[in-house]
Amino acid sequence: MIKKICCMICILLIFAGCSADISNNDSGQSILKKEYKSIKEQRKDNKTEKNVNFSENSGELLKIGFCQVGAESGWRTAHTNSMKEIFTETNGYQLSFVDANGNKDKQIEAIRSFINEKVKAIVLAPVVEDGWDEVLKEAKSAGIPVIIVDRMIKTSDDSLYACWVGSNFKAEGLNAVEWLNEYIKSNGDDNKNNKVVILRGTIGASAETGRTEGIYEGLEKYTRYEIVGDISGNFTKDEGKQAMEEYLKINKDFDVLFSQNDDMTFGAIEALKDAGIKPGKDVVIISFDGVKDAFQSMIDGEINADIECNPLQGPFVSELIQKILANENLEKIQYMYESVYDEDVAKQEIGNRVY
Ligand code: AHR
Repeated sequence: MIKKICCMICILLIFAGCSADISNNDSGQSILKKEYKSIKEQRKDNKTEKNVNFSENSGELLKIGFCQVGAESGWRTAHTNSMKEIFTETNGYQLSFVDANGNKDKQIEAIRSFINEKVKAIVLAPVVEDGWDEVLKEAKSAGIPVIIVDRMIKTSDDSLYACWVGSNFKAEGLNAVEWLNEYIKSNGDDNKNNKVVILRGTIGASAETGRTEGIYEGLEKYTRYEIVGDISGNFTKDEGKQAMEEYLKINKDFDVLFSQNDDMTFGAIEALKDAGIKPGKDVVIISFDGVKDAFQSMIDGEINADIECNPLQGPFVSELIQKILANENLEKIQYMYESVYDEDVAKQEIGNRVY
């Protein structure tokens, strides 16, 4: 029952490009308190049928360049698939796809090759936030709009990209803390000093910087948490396991783990078990992404909560490209729908999980 209450309180949604019903926290980040929306309903909202088939009008396929971060996680695979499923010849597209294997320089090369190919739009999922201005200026000079997806970039000139579609990573971090706090209170641990370890993703990626900022800011609001460890596992299972193994050599005394993606969480769980620590019981585990395997881990009691990061961005990006090419006005920042899940919701939703 307590868990159910916790779950209802903590089901928070972030809406794609929506500005209504937003409660702003003091840093201007928007956190929406809404009712739970199932993946089935989200899929209805994201209907791919909305997309126009360009070739029907012109007979020509629309050339798009998409440069992906890599294939470091289950989330990333779902993100790639979402793009590839929409940018098909049947839908009127001709896709040039580059997997940058986590290498920013390779991404810059890819953008230059898309410019040479004279694509009509470039979609970039940047590995890290910094260092894009020069190559984006080249795309702008060539008259090619760039849509940034998933992670954000830092730039002094917003006109260098047409728009961004992705997650409110800071809100994800804040939501993770709020979930934890309700859970701790419902378990009667609110008078205890809870020792927290943070396992970060790729340093300098906005999924890492935003979640870290949200977690730190969220925890600072309460006196019952002490951060005792802050390590990185580069968003991969192997590195997550290794980082946790190294950490456990110096400290085994902690109560909570925030692990910034599911792949690292799976690795960390293995390391904890090898050290005789029961994940989800001796240590409360809050993960990010919400892939299907993590739903199973929640049902198995090894992950306590998962903060969704929605990878199903392809249909939105396709719609935005159509609007950009039709010179329509659009919101520069477009957030995806996202929820917070725990064991109870995992049981109901695992069958509907598409990634
Ligand atoms: O940028 C999104 C993050 O990148 C996801 O949380 C993670 O799984 C991926 O590698």
